[in-house]
Amino acid sequence: MVINSTGLQPSQGAGEENNSVQQIPMVPALDAMQALASTSLRCVECQTMYPALESVPRYRCGCGGVLDVETNFGDANSHELQTRETAFFNDADTLPSIGASWRQRFDDRASSPPIWSISTDTHLLDASGVWRFRELIVPVPEKYVISRPEGNTTLYPVGMENCGTGRIGHRQIGVYAGLDRFFLKHEGENPTGSFKDRGMTVGVTMAHVMGAKAVACASTGNTSASLASYAAQAGMRGIVFLPAGNVAGGKLAQTLAYGATAVQIEGDFDDAMHLVEHVCNELGIYLLNSLNPFRIEGQKAIGFEILQQFDWQAPDWLVLPAGNLGNTSAIGKAFRQAYQLGIINSMPRIASIQAEGANPFYRSFVGKFAERHSIHAETVASAIKIGNPVSYTRARRVIEESDGIVVSVSDAQILAAKAVIDRSGIGCEPASAATLAGIRQLVERGVIKHDERVVGVLTGTLLKDSKTGMQQGNGGIVVKPTIDAVRSILEAIEA
Ligand code: F0G
Repeated sequence: MVINSTGLQPSQGAGEENNSVQQIPMVPALDAMQALASTSLRCVECQTMYPALESVPRYRCGCGGVLDVETNFGDANSHELQTRETAFFNDADTLPSIGASWRQRFDDRASSPPIWSISTDTHLLDASGVWRFRELIVPVPEKYVISRPEGNTTLYPVGMENCGTGRIGHRQIGVYAGLDRFFLKHEGENPTGSFKDRGMTVGVTMAHVMGAKAVACASTGNTSASLASYAAQAGMRGIVFLPAGNVAGGKLAQTLAYGATAVQIEGDFDDAMHLVEHVCNELGIYLLNSLNPFRIEGQKAIGFEILQQFDWQAPDWLVLPAGNLGNTSAIGKAFRQAYQLGIINSMPRIASIQAEGANPFYRSFVGKFAERHSIHAETVASAIKIGNPVSYTRARRVIEESDGIVVSVSDAQILAAKAVIDRSGIGCEPASAATLAGIRQLVERGVIKHDERVVGVLTGTLLKDSKTGMQQGNGGIVVKPTIDAVRSILEAIEA
């Protein structure tokens, strides 16, 4: 189905309180409302606070600003809240023991048996790389959770010095980056093949809490595939708004196979995003873009899981591709909270990598964030072809408080980096390769030192976008079924 996005008047767009529209209420579950009583939403622009759950779901403040979830964590033993700041003023010895209790709790859950009885949902939650950290995600009653489960993705050692002899191919990535101690966190190993499942399990869980019958998002493809899968699991209708002709084949195939309704917009992702927010408000559909603050809470788990895989020693750098800036916001928030709760003792620096033709955040960074840029995006990495990122303010905070950096890389650099990751045997989709292209640039510039401990996030699997970057004519060689035919082909290739 293709529709024209210009049907939406500019005055009806994102950022304004939708006074003219009759919004359809939902019925949030009472026990969930009680469980979330100490959780609030705070506007990232004007700091206005709202309840976490209302009968008309709220995705923006009255001022147009996006919202951030604020949870009042009890400490690991349910005593009074202690954070780095309060412990500093009270008892500086308390914080390390609080941090240790949190770490112990998460480690106990991670070490529970990898198989579980299908009737024990608690084990299922512990087996999820999101819900294992549930107190730091969202305190929703467990019976509402919709989980595949997700997460538990591999952290590949790929540096020149942290690759064993069994990883000679992977070491090529470290050589290309110029790093001794380098790791790639492959989020393409999630159930639907991208990091989006971490936010989606939380988003669809909240839709379940709200009693929503239908959920929707705008997407460059991965969010739509994830939404379609989790909506199907929850028995909800999934509706996705896609930029027509700009979604990789694997992502569209997944979305349709999982049974979602795909609405192809004659426009780009930014048009689709603008439209879906309005449609959801007007038609009583639960919105599942990262504009929904609960999606961000789920994506924080990428950060928590990396810390756990490092035995709670923070790396020096965390590098990731950036489009709509939800992931930059989420991982930065995870590190900030882990630090405040004494779970880690230092904060990693964060580097967000944008494609040159889709780099509004980079332009703002270069101008010291004096101006928020919006551009018409164009890049081979369709997943991050976004010109007006929704989570700009959240991500700006992350870059500023982590002493972070924003980098711009060309399409040629993205494809060259993708070829290195693919040939190593790990593989990723084009947007993910921006991570390696950005790291290489930062090492060349001397910003990242060759012996620093660096984690790069690969956001999606190679299979999502199997065409982009594939060499022409490399579709395999057809020969007669004889030894001689095979020998002559192999000799020709070797020569
Ligand atoms: N990498 C991949 C593979 C993505 O799909 C996306 C975003 C990003 C990176 C950027 O993450 O938006 O949080 O900064 N994909 C969204 C989608 C837009 O609709 O699937 P971000």
